Amino acid sequence: MARRKKVYEGKAKILYEGPEPGTLVQYFKDDATAFNAEKRDVIEGKGVLNNRLSEYFMTGLNAIGVPTHFLKRLNMREQLIRAVEIVPLEVIVRNYAAGTIAKRLGLEEGTALPRPIVEFCLKDDALGDPLVAEEHIMAFGWASQQDLDDMVAIALRVNDFLSGVMYGVGIRLADFKIEIGRVYENDFQRLILADEISPDSCRLWDIETGQKLDKDVFRRDLGNLTDAYTEVARRLGVLPSNATPITKPTLIN
Ligand code: TYD
Repeated sequence: MARRKKVYEGKAKILYEGPEPGTLVQYFKDDATAFNAEKRDVIEGKGVLNNRLSEYFMTGLNAIGVPTHFLKRLNMREQLIRAVEIVPLEVIVRNYAAGTIAKRLGLEEGTALPRPIVEFCLKDDALGDPLVAEEHIMAFGWASQQDLDDMVAIALRVNDFLSGVMYGVGIRLADFKIEIGRVYENDFQRLILADEISPDSCRLWDIETGQKLDKDVFRRDLGNLTDAYTEVARRLGVLPSNATPITKPTLIN
C-alpha cells in the first residue's frame, strides 16, 4: 500500500492528503503543548477524545447551518475534512474573564463579561500569537471587512451553540478559540469553520464546583488531563466506549 502524503504537522494534529481532491485526513495526536510549546507532554488518549468531541460539536454545528470543514469521522483518531485555506487569525470568543484578557485588563478570573467579546490574534508562533485589531487585519490584508463580518457572525453562532450544549451538561463555557478557512466554489469564496473544537481550545468550568475541565488542567498542573476531557465526553454521551447505538433495546426484568 502506498504511504499517504503528510501535508502538514502541527502541535496537536497532522494533516494527510485525502482520498479525493479537496479533502484531507485530520489525525489527532496525543501531544499537549502550552505557553507557545514551552511546556509539552504526551497525554495518552487525548487525541481519541478530541477527535470524538470535535466530531460531536462540528456535526451539531453543521446541523444548525454553521458551515464547517468536517465531513466524517474515519476512525478513533482521524476524520475526513474539506481542504481549506486557513485565515491566519485565531478567533477568540470570551464570555467570562480568564487567561490573557484577565491579565491584560486586570480582571479577576471568572468575572462575567458585559457581552460576548470577539478578539483576533495573528497566527504566528514566533511572535506568540499577538492580539491584533481590525485595523491591522485590513491594513495587512489578512482578511477583508466582509471576511471579518462573516468571522464574527460564525464565532457568535458557535458561541451560542457551544454555550447551550455545555450549559445542558452543567458546564460553563468561559472562552474558546476557532479557526476559519476559505473555500473556493467557482468564482466565489466563502468562509467555513475549520481546525477543531475540543477542550484543548476552550475554557470549560463545572457550573457547580468551578472545576476546570479543559487544557488549563495541563497548563497549571491541576491534575489528569485525560480525566478532565473524559468527564466532558462522558457528560455529552460521546465517550468512545459509548459507541453502542443508544437505540439498543433494553430488557426490563
Ligand atoms: P487566551 O486567554 O487568550 O490565551 P491563553 O490560553 O494563553 O491564556 O485564550 C483564550 C482561549 O482561546 C482559551 O480557551 C485558549 C484558546 N486559545 C487557543 O486554543 N490557542 C491559541 O493560540 C490562543 C491564542 C487561544
